[in-house]
This record gives sequence, structure tokens and C-alpha cells, in this order.
Amino acid sequence: MRVLVTGGAGFIGSALVRYLVAEQGYEVLNVDKLTYAGNLASLKAIDNHAGYRFLKADICDRKTMAEAFASFRPDRVMHLAAESHVDRSITGAQDFVETNVMGTFSLLETARHYFAGLDAASRERFRFLHVSTDEVYGSLGDDGLFREDTPYDPSSPYSASKAASDHLAKAWQRTYQLPVVVSNCSNNYGPYHFPEKLIPLTILNALAGRELPVYGRGENIRDWLYVEDHARALDAIIARGRIGETYNVGGRNERRNIDVVRRICEVLDQRVPVSGSRQELIRFVTDRPGHDARYAIDATKLEDELGWRALETFDTGIEKTVDWYLQNAWWWEPLRQSYDGQRLGILPTAEAKAG
Ligand code: NAD
Ligand code: DAU
Repeated sequence: MRVLVTGGAGFIGSALVRYLVAEQGYEVLNVDKLTYAGNLASLKAIDNHAGYRFLKADICDRKTMAEAFASFRPDRVMHLAAESHVDRSITGAQDFVETNVMGTFSLLETARHYFAGLDAASRERFRFLHVSTDEVYGSLGDDGLFREDTPYDPSSPYSASKAASDHLAKAWQRTYQLPVVVSNCSNNYGPYHFPEKLIPLTILNALAGRELPVYGRGENIRDWLYVEDHARALDAIIARGRIGETYNVGGRNERRNIDVVRRICEVLDQRVPVSGSRQELIRFVTDRPGHDARYAIDATKLEDELGWRALETFDTGIEKTVDWYLQNAWWWEPLRQSYDGQRLGILPTAEAKAG
């Protein structure tokens, strides 16, 4: 099995590539532009493996991508390359539109032309998995879950760009019969997570004795999935998912942000005791503009149709994650030199009000 993964040097992409190469024995070509979020150190465990290859390229570069398809001849494409951080999208939407919308369009076109040139047996086998987010569905109130038929209602430039890319992927299936499947997943966490996102940022700031910014009152709810559970889900969806369908991915682990931050403090206080508690570092700060109140996934379709189950609960996964950061300073210390955890995504007006 030959799998072309885009964005394989990122957080989820690297977990997926490690899984496909080391546990499934697939041949993988990882295509990644290596933005600030791409890090080949995350692939150290498999980078000498015979089944693994890396190509530094931008998915928007049609010529290079067409050459990559022609020489690697993928049976499957798993498309994860994206700008992924909501806060950065608030103050710099252009990269999000370019990579998430135009990049996905370019990749779909490259795949369509490649697919058209395949023989019948290869066409039968070929699949394109477009990896997306639950944020396309917007915000939930106190009740209910995101299902595959929940209407799209994105709030941020990031989620709007992902929504656009989902529609493109579906349209390429309906119009050109490209064998596309789409997945929409909830918040991931785990090892090799760039420390701009809530969980790794909180772990590293707490470890350094720095303030822990919680947006608004910390009441917003996210549905947390351990990244290795997501990697297994993606492999199941591309292997056995039905063409043209969407599969929601989530582990039924809703938590308020404030409870996530408090739990990280508790685990760190057990592992590396300090006088007092790290919870004293928590600070409620100006809210994120357009902050969605609650995300929660109904993963029944994935569970019933494809037999997938999350193996980690939030309680087991968060302990593993904290331990990983404690044991792998070699990975995150260089990243903190280039981005040391300052607040992102504040609009000038909100900043003035906060000051
Ligand atoms: P990430 O930001 O950690 O990694 C993105 C990767 O894409 C990086 O390695 C980056 O270098 C690469 N990339 C960016 N622009 C590129 C381009 N133009 N060409 C080639 N490579 C490019 O992101 P992540 O958190 O691993 O998310 C991966 C995918 O999963 C994204 O599509 C995201 O929308 C989706 N997703 C993420 C989450 C989450 O909680 N992190 C949840 C659901 C879905
Ligand atoms: O739901 C899936 C999405 O999850 C993915 O599509 C995105 O790529 C991924 O980044 C993530 O988006 P979020 O915006 O939910 O993740 P983030 O870690 O940025 O924030 C999680 C919650 O924590 C959110 O409610 C905002 C809040 N937050 C975040 C940061 C960085 C804080 O309270 N303080 C912080 O410092």
C-alpha cells in the first residue's frame, strides 16, 4: 500500500505517518512545506525506515505535486496539510485561505488528473481522504452533538477556510467521481503538539512557572481526542469508509477549558511538586473573538460502520501527554526559542480594551 500524506510533519500528520509506517507497514510519502508548525523531529522514530520518504513541497505547487504523484503512484492520499491555529487565523487569514482553500483545490485537481490516468484496477483501489475539523459545524448550545448532517456554520477564518475545503472535496467527488471521503474530528491532544494550542501551552507554561491564560471565564467546552486514536480512525476511514461520505471522529470526552487547565496543574503538581499549587498561575484573559462555546461529536457512524473505538479517555491521555512533555524537552525546547508562548489572535480593539 502506497500512501501520500500531506502535512505529515505536523502534529496529527506525524502521528499518522508514524502509525502507517511502523504499525501498518505501508510505504509513505510525506509531502510537507515545513511551515512554523512542521517539524521533522516529530518523525525521528521512523525517518530511517525503508518505507518512509519525505518531500519538502507546497501543496499549491501543482507542477511539483503532479511529479510527486507520477513518481510515487499513491493508492491513497491523506490530506492533512493546513494552517490549523484559530488564533493565528484571526490576525492573519491570508495563509489560511491560500493553503486550506487554494491548496486543497490544487491538490484535488492534481489527484483528479492522476486518477484519470490510472488503469481500471488502480482506479478501483484509489481513495482521497480529506481531513477536516468539527469547527465547520460552528458552536453548540448546552445540549446536542455534531452529527454528519449538522449544517455548516463556521465562526473563525480558520473554520471558514476548512468548511470551504470540505465543500470542494465533496464537489470533486460528485462532479468528477474522484473517490473522496471526508473526516471531521474534534480537538486532538498528545505528544508532538506545537505549544501554541491550549494543552501543550499550559503544560510548558506551568512547568516554567508562568501565567496560564484562560480565555473568557474558561467555560467553553471542547471534546478531546488522543491523537493516536485519531490516526487509527483516519486509516479505518480511508480503508473502509464509503465514497462521498463524511465520518465524524471524537472520543466522547467533553471538558470545560478551566477543568482541562486545572487537571494539567494537578498532574504536574504530582509529578514535579512545587510549594503551593500551579493552579495559582491561572489567569482569566480577554476572550477570543468569535469564540465557539461548545464542540461535541457524535461518533456513532464511525463506531458502528467501521468498528472504531477511542482507546484513551481524557484522564488516561492527559497523564500520558504530561509525561511525554516531561520526558521530551529535546523536542519542545527549540520550539520555545522561536515562539515562547505569547498571546496570539487579539484584534487591536480588543487589545486596547484589555490594556
Ligand atoms: P499542524 O498545524 O500541526 O500541521 C500542519 C502541517 O501542514 C505542518 O507540518 C505544515 O508544515 C504543513 N503545511 C502547512 N501548509 C502547507 C502547504 N501549503 N503545503 C504543504 N504543507 C503545508 O496541524 P494539525 O493539528 O496536525 O492538523 C492537521 C489537519 O487536521 C488539518 O487539516 C486540521 O485542520 C485538521 N484537524 C486538526 C485538529 C486538531 O485538533 N489539531 C482537529 C481536527 C482536524
Ligand atoms: O475542534 C478541532 C480544532 O481544535 C482543530 O480544527 C484546530 O486545528 C485545533 O487548533 C483546535 O482548535 P481550538 O481553537 O479548539 O484549539 P485551541 O487549543 O487553540 O483552544 C482550545 C480552547 O482553549 C479554546 O476554547 C480556546 C481556549 N484557549 C486556548 C489557548 C491557546 C485558552 O483558553 N487559552 C489559550 O491560551
